[in-house]
Amino acid sequence: MSEAMELAGQVALVTGGSRGIGRALAGELAAAGARVAVVARDAGRAQAAAAELPGEGHRGFGCDVADSGAVNELVKTVEAEMGGLEILVNNAGITEDNLLVRMSDEAWDRVLNTNLKGAFNLIRAAARGMMRRRSGRIINITSVVGITGNPGQANYAASKAGLIGLTKSVARELASRGVLCNAVAPGFIDTEMTAALPEAAREALLAQIALGRLGRPEDVACVVRFLAGPAASYVTGQTLVVDGGMVM
Ligand code: NAI
Repeated sequence: MSEAMELAGQVALVTGGSRGIGRALAGELAAAGARVAVVARDAGRAQAAAAELPGEGHRGFGCDVADSGAVNELVKTVEAEMGGLEILVNNAGITEDNLLVRMSDEAWDRVLNTNLKGAFNLIRAAARGMMRRRSGRIINITSVVGITGNPGQANYAASKAGLIGLTKSVARELASRGVLCNAVAPGFIDTEMTAALPEAAREALLAQIALGRLGRPEDVACVVRFLAGPAASYVTGQTLVVDGGMVM
């Protein structure tokens, strides 16, 4: 097998794969030879993104990751139609920022349910098959704010910190079955999620980045490809920070 196609024949599922970081990392896994199940809330957008990936056999699925029943059905369908899941990337995420005292119950619940419970739902559904096959890679996309905290993002930072704890527990629980679980913590990446930031906030963030530029979705995608592949077979329970030297 050539080095360039290290994931040939493997099936990968990427949540939030229709745009931004998820789209880039679906592309990177496809370029490494994987067949990718692109999952997004909107089935049409997921299918359109899947159709643009390099290689053959990719599929798009509509699913709300916060809905555990729908996630169980999704994983069953993917495994029946595409084959056993080898790689799971929990990337779907939302923000609903507000100052703590103004944050509604609903804004707290929506962010925790998508970002943290969503990942739990997918991991629980995918773990059985991975454990049976004694092989699997689970990669959770967290954020540097899960490590540092951030004013106005109590819900989001809590969900991302929670993902780091989830990653370590899954890594410990599934290691003996050959399933590895790691997290990737991007810093400030140029996507639709961050496009909404006011110019002053953008400038202030930029000043903190040692490499002096925003990250690109591709910067995150190649680290995910590394964690999914044979070069990372002795790495589990870790959080890899990809932030251009913003948090050290
Ligand atoms: P984005 O907003 O461009 O894309 C988010 C994706 O998640 C979309 O495809 C959307 O359909 C999907 N999604 C949202 N809720 C969903 C749900 N309930 N069920 C299924 N899919 C759902 O976001 P971006 O910037 O690409 O972020 C991707 C991940 O990276 C998120 O988890 C985000 O928290 C994280 N991240 C992003 C950073 C950035 O600077 N852009 C920095 C650190 C982390």
